[in-house]
Amino acid sequence: MNHILVVDDEANIRKLLEEILREEEYSVASTGTASEALVLLRDVSYDVMLLDIWLPDRDGLEVLSEIRSLETDNKPEVIIISGHGTIETAVRATKLGAFDFLEKPLTLERTLIVVKNAIEAKRLRSENQEFKRQLALQTPITGESVAAKALRQQIRLMAPTNGRVLIFGESGSGKELIARAIHAESQRCERVFVELNCAAIPEDYIESELFGYRNSAIPGGPAEKRGTFERADGGTLFLDEVGDMSLKTQAKVLRALDEQRFTPVGAIHAMSVDVRVIAATNKNLEEEIAKGNFREDLFYRLNVIPFYVPPLRDRKEDIPLLTRDFLRAFGREYGRSRVDIAEDAIELLKHYHWPGNVRELKNLIERVLILNPQAPRIERKHLPMLVHRGTSKRSEDFSTLHQAREAYERDYILKKIDECHGNISRAAETLGLERSHLYRKMRTLGISVRE
Ligand SMILES: Nc1ncnc2c1ncn2[C@@H]1O[C@H](COP(=O)(O)OP(=O)(O)OP(=O)(O)O)[C@@H](O)[C@H]1O
Ligand SMILES: [Mg+2]
Repeated sequence: MNHILVVDDEANIRKLLEEILREEEYSVASTGTASEALVLLRDVSYDVMLLDIWLPDRDGLEVLSEIRSLETDNKPEVIIISGHGTIETAVRATKLGAFDFLEKPLTLERTLIVVKNAIEAKRLRSENQEFKRQLALQTPITGESVAAKALRQQIRLMAPTNGRVLIFGESGSGKELIARAIHAESQRCERVFVELNCAAIPEDYIESELFGYRNSAIPGGPAEKRGTFERADGGTLFLDEVGDMSLKTQAKVLRALDEQRFTPVGAIHAMSVDVRVIAATNKNLEEEIAKGNFREDLFYRLNVIPFYVPPLRDRKEDIPLLTRDFLRAFGREYGRSRVDIAEDAIELLKHYHWPGNVRELKNLIERVLILNPQAPRIERKHLPMLVHRGTSKRSEDFSTLHQAREAYERDYILKKIDECHGNISRAAETLGLERSHLYRKMRTLGISVRE
C-alpha cells in the first residue's frame, strides 16, 4: 500500500483529501503544521507528500528544500498545493525538487492524476536506487589475492563514511576503479561523481576549472561557468594525479578543502559546497614533500584514509582470474564468447613484470583476441614477444631443469632473432643451427613466427 502525507493548515482541505485518497486505497496521514510533518517524516516513509505552501509555522518551500536535503534514500515525492498559484512559485518549487503543483480549489480528477504519477515516479526512483546498490555490491574489483580482498573490505568499511581518501598506486593499477567503487558504495551514490585530472589542466586555467567563474574575462565566452567543486556539490570529487598540481594550485585547493567554501573567479560572494574528496596519485608524495614539490598540510588533509593498490607483479595470484575475466568480457564484445586460454599461456603471463599493471594486461588480452581472429584458444605462441622476453628468470620460478633450460633457450633465441631484425635464416646462422631446426625449436618453445 502507498503512504501519503497531507500537510495543510485548512482542516476541510485535509478532510477532503483524506477522503478521496482513502477511496483510492491509499493510506493517508495528515497534519496542519510543518514541524509535525517533519516529525512524521522521520518515523514513517511516505511515498508522496501533498504540501501546502502557506503553513502557520513555516514556509512550505522551506520545508520542501529541507526534505530534499534529508540524508535518507526514502524521500517522498512532494506535490505543492497553493492557493496563490503564480508561475514564479511553481518554478521555484520545481527547482527545489517538487514533483508537481496543484492549485486551489483542488479538482478531484487532477489531484488523483498527479498523485498517481508521483507514486509511479517514486517507484521508479526506488527501483533505480536498488539497481545501483546491487551494481555497487558486485564490486568490479577482481582478484582473490590477499591484497585484492583487503581492498574490497576496506572499500566496504570506508565508503559509507564521509572521510577523505587518498589512493596510492602505480599507473594502471586500478586507482580510478577504486575511487568509483567507493562512490558507488557511499551514501552519495545517487549524486554525481566528478573527475578532475590535475595533471591535464594548464596552470592558467586551473582556478576557473576548479572554482568556475562569473563574468567571463574571455570576450564572447560564456558568461559563467560552474567549476569542478560546484558541479560535485552533494557528490564525490575525484582529484586524479594530485601529485601533479602546482604549489599555487595546491594552496587554493587546501583552502577550499578546509573551508568547504570558495569564491568563483570574478564573483562577489563565496559559495559553500558539500563534497567528498577522493584523491589519487602514482607519485610518492612523501618524497615530493621532501623535495618541496608538495605541501605537507595538503597531504594530511587529503590523506585521512589511505588506500594502497599494490602493483600487479606483487599479486600474481590475481593474474589468472583477471585474464579470464577480460577474455570473457572481450570475447563477448567480439562475438567469440567461447574463446579459452591455455594453462601454460597463463603461466607465462604470471611471470611477466607488468609495468603497466592491470591496464596493460587488459589491453594485451584485447589485442591478442583481435590479432588472432581464428584461434579458439589462446596459446603461449599468441602472446606478444614482450611477455616472452619480460619473463623473469629467477631460479625459484622454475620447478625442473627442463623448464629452466627452455626459458633460457627461448630468451636467447628471441634475442638473436631480434638482433637479426626478425630474419630467421640469419638468426639460424648466428645460432649455428639449420633453418628448419630453428623453426622446430621455435615451435616447441612457443615462439610465433609472426613475432
Ligand atoms: N582489480 C581489477 N579488476 C578488474 N579490472 C581492473 C582491476 N584493476 C584495474 N582494472 C582495469 O584496469 C584499467 C586501469 O585501471 P584504472 O584506470 O583504475 O587505473 P589507474 O590506477 O587509475 O591508472 P592511472 O594511474 O594510469 O590513471 C581499467 O580499465 C580498470 O577497469
Ligand atoms: Mg587513473
